Amino acid sequence: MKTEFSIPQRVLHWLMVVLLAFNLLASDAMGAFGRLYFGDQPIPGDIAFAANIHATIGIAILVLGLLRLCLRFVQGVPPSPAVEPPLLRFVAKLCHFAFYAIFIIMPLAGIGAFFFKNSAAAFAHIGWMKTLLWLLIGLHVAGVLVHQFYWKTDVLKRMTSGVSGRSDRVTLFAQQFDQPLVARQVQAPTAMKAPPSARMGEARSAMR
Ligand code: HEM
Ligand code: HEM
Repeated sequence: MKTEFSIPQRVLHWLMVVLLAFNLLASDAMGAFGRLYFGDQPIPGDIAFAANIHATIGIAILVLGLLRLCLRFVQGVPPSPAVEPPLLRFVAKLCHFAFYAIFIIMPLAGIGAFFFKNSAAAFAHIGWMKTLLWLLIGLHVAGVLVHQFYWKTDVLKRMTSGVSGRSDRVTLFAQQFDQPLVARQVQAPTAMKAPPSARMGEARSAMR
């Protein structure tokens, strides 16, 4: 069973986080570009330069998003941790699906605005698509933080350094019995603390 994301999947995840952050946060020039472009006004060189960088990065996001989707089909993904309640598991899956959809449709809308001067595409690009992307990012990061600090699973590790051999075994052990991971982690060492010979000794002295 797959226990972590492959190295190419991890590299693509973090590379896309950087590119998306750039296009979302360094977008002031795009506001000015949109006003001038759709108002049929001349565009100063620095704004045109910033718009070209935005468009190039946006197209890279589209290509990398498609590549990542192919990798997902070929290599698969690790299963949701057993500790996650079914409703939140569904929300996480929906959130990942919506991310992949937005990696494709948001750049396509940008292309419609930039190359074809389509104002409906521009409106969607800077309206509901931008809002949805921010919402998904907020939900996603909140979910990761709950896993890391509340359920104490190794979900973050499988997208960063990879899970260690020990946590692999604990995760698989918990999934096999479909028991909450935290409960298994707490119970396992106490149950196995005393060797069988010591437990026999205890039983004998109790009988005396
Ligand atoms: C997922 C990738 C992308 C993200 C996250 C993104 C994000 C943004 C943001 C945040 C804005 C500014 C919104 C505002 O003023 O509040 C914007 C505007 C714009 N973007 Fe993108 N963008 C992406 C891809 C693209 C692509 C691939 C192109 C073109 C090839 C593009 C073309 C534009 C244009 C023309 C505007 C100005 C639209 C207007 O103001 O009417 N974007 N984008
Ligand atoms: C622009 C921001 C981000 C985007 C678009 C994004 C997107 C995604 C997507 C689509 C997946 C699902 C991968 C798949 O199943 O194929 C994922 C998984 C993951 N992301 Fe992010 N992510 C972002 C930011 C972050 C941040 C800031 C963190 C860390 C705090 C993070 C941690 C993770 C982890 C741990 C997983 C694995 C979840 C699991 O195993 O079920 N992500 N991310």
